[in-house]
Amino acid sequence: MAKTEIDAATGVPTTGHEWDGVKELDNPLPKWWVMTYFVTIAVSIVYVFLYPSFPTGTGYLKGSLGHTERISVEQRLGEARAAQSQWLDQLTAVSLEEIPANAELLTFARQGGQAAFNTNCAGCHGVGGGGQLGKYPVLADDDWIWGGDLEAIHTTISYGIRSDHDEARVSEMPAFGADEILSAEEIDAMADFVLAMAQGSADFGSDAGVSYLENCAACHGEQGEGIADLGGPKLNDFVWLYGDSKEAIVAQISRPQQGVMPAFGPRLDEATVRMLSVYVHSLGGGQ
Ligand code: HEC
Ligand code: HEC
Repeated sequence: MAKTEIDAATGVPTTGHEWDGVKELDNPLPKWWVMTYFVTIAVSIVYVFLYPSFPTGTGYLKGSLGHTERISVEQRLGEARAAQSQWLDQLTAVSLEEIPANAELLTFARQGGQAAFNTNCAGCHGVGGGGQLGKYPVLADDDWIWGGDLEAIHTTISYGIRSDHDEARVSEMPAFGADEILSAEEIDAMADFVLAMAQGSADFGSDAGVSYLENCAACHGEQGEGIADLGGPKLNDFVWLYGDSKEAIVAQISRPQQGVMPAFGPRLDEATVRMLSVYVHSLGGGQ
């Protein structure tokens, strides 16, 4: 055994290890470090007695406080549900028009409506109601096919459009081309007329204009202003469901798309349908 060697420069003993003449001093660990080390051991022992810790063969050490994460999660969920059901009850207790008058209720409905919209509607109408040109209408503008007040939106969501619901909104634009009501030339001229109408320069005295009043005005209005009760979209503006190209318009007149929107009344509860109505109404163009 080598006897303890004291380093001459510092007066500290060395560990006896030596690498190429470099020796290691045997300084003690700092006191604060040693204290912290023992405190953590003490705390962990106390913790084992109080809280759930080690697994045993058939279960785990439960600790004397009886703490479990599951109970506290259930408790918090229960509290959240109770707070929500108060709002949900209120949503269905008042009339649809009264909801916006109550600022807190309105906020609750909008937030709930947004969540329900992202789940049920965004697949077709896009997040935020941006729509998909050529297929699904924009819901974030003030151009409405079936009406944009709360009541009309509520009806659309509840019963759907051309859905299998008995009270679905239905309006069948005739297939003027496929059913040979108009010839290909007449449809071509009609498409030009519709485009002119969108620009405010339609000649209602032309052949196409006369044919428009005869064949189309009943659903789209004498001036192309749209008839919400019949689901006839406005044609005298530049907001299009199916596209602003002449091709898209010829296609629609020849063989209408007859877009289908499912009925959500049978799938969602009334409170959710109301939240959705409020949310859609608030997207930008509510009437
Ligand atoms: C499968 C696709 C689809 C889904 C899902 C869908 N919609 Fe629609 N929605 C449509 C189509 C297509 C139309 C336009 C039909 C038409 O009139 O030609 C429409 C029209 C509407 C309108 C009427 C717009 C207007 O201008 O009058 C509203 C409001 C509406 N949807 C809301 C919703 C809400 C809210 C949801 C979710 C609960 C939803 N939609 C889910 C396809 C869908
Ligand atoms: C019975 C009612 C009805 C009649 C009559 C009718 N339409 Fe329509 N039209 C609709 C409906 C409903 C839609 C939208 C729904 C769909 O097809 O999905 C529509 C959509 C359109 C669109 C697409 C609008 C857009 O925003 O993209 C055009 C264009 C159009 N019609 C032109 C005509 C023309 C031109 C005529 C006459 C030759 C006509 N319609 C006659 C009901 C009608």
